[in-house]
Amino acid sequence: MNPLYDSIRAIFWREDGLYLLDQRKLPQQKIEIHLLSASAVADAIRDMVVRGAPAIGITAAYGVVTSAIEHQSLPFSSRKQQIIQDILLLSESRPTAVNLFWALDKMKACLESSGADQHNLLSLLLNQARQIHEDDLKANYRMAEYGAALLQSDAAAVLTHCNAGALATGGYGTALGVIRRAYSDGKIQQVFADETRPWMQGARLTAWEFVEEQIPVTLLCEGAAASLMAQGSVSWVIVGSDRIAANGDVANKIGTYALAILARHHGVKFMVAAPTSTIDMQTASGKDIPIEQRELAEVFNCGHQRVATEGAMAWNPAFDVTPAELVDAIVTEKGVIEKPDFDKMTAHMAL
Ligand code: MRU
Repeated sequence: MNPLYDSIRAIFWREDGLYLLDQRKLPQQKIEIHLLSASAVADAIRDMVVRGAPAIGITAAYGVVTSAIEHQSLPFSSRKQQIIQDILLLSESRPTAVNLFWALDKMKACLESSGADQHNLLSLLLNQARQIHEDDLKANYRMAEYGAALLQSDAAAVLTHCNAGALATGGYGTALGVIRRAYSDGKIQQVFADETRPWMQGARLTAWEFVEEQIPVTLLCEGAAASLMAQGSVSWVIVGSDRIAANGDVANKIGTYALAILARHHGVKFMVAAPTSTIDMQTASGKDIPIEQRELAEVFNCGHQRVATEGAMAWNPAFDVTPAELVDAIVTEKGVIEKPDFDKMTAHMAL
């Protein structure tokens, strides 16, 4: 395993600031966007230039550094106030992924701890953002090891949903990190990936990551998942998460809940790989998780092409909640929580 996995990266901090790989354009084009203000970073998160819970948190952290650069010419106290306003702005970009709020809390604490140290403010914030980025990458390696160890050596095929890969994280991936590791250990022969309407993260991003690394990947419409499981070759569903509540309920890309029900019906195991920064012990259960509702045009259209008849209505929740009782294992960088419940989650977070 390469400890400096960098073959696919979504977020770059360079000498002149923050660059994001524009995930809306993949796989056809590999274009980077240079972001020079916190409001541009908030827009990039909202508009899905960058997406995936850990990647959203890392980007927002660099967004705070961008704010410190943007307001460099202000008197120190106004500059700090402006950064706090930008933290609020960034926190309003997307509501479900708790990694966003987790990372911004860390950046705010760093800002507050800087006191009157105006000369070092920028480097303190940059070091904190880089630490968040680096820790996420390291956490993915640990999850990969714990998650892959759960698979039998004959776990021929797995199914994943959305994109919980290098593009959605600091690198390597959560669910896709587990799959990468299990594939290199010879435990997986085949990966199935849901295309994931309406943003097609599976077709555009997950399949691209695997093709780039020559891992065999087969796409399916999510409506085909039941038939796939009925054939008997899939042994695990492996997904990421945007927020895990204190009782082990899991919010993830819309369609994940349906997969969990199908998995239980067909005797397929269901694994959620997510760092502890995705676990929200302040949220008691899944029903308290805010679910983002996105523009209806995403349902009416395929890409930019309208396919729905005029006059129809639409419903477009970006995420759903899988109840803890349908989850066989939550894998974090600290280890494995089998059949999660409140007591096991509490004990795990105290490790
Ligand atoms: O709307 P998105 O693309 O941000 O949704 C992403 C997901 O649902 C991922 O599965 C989740 O954030 C985990 S990413 C490691």
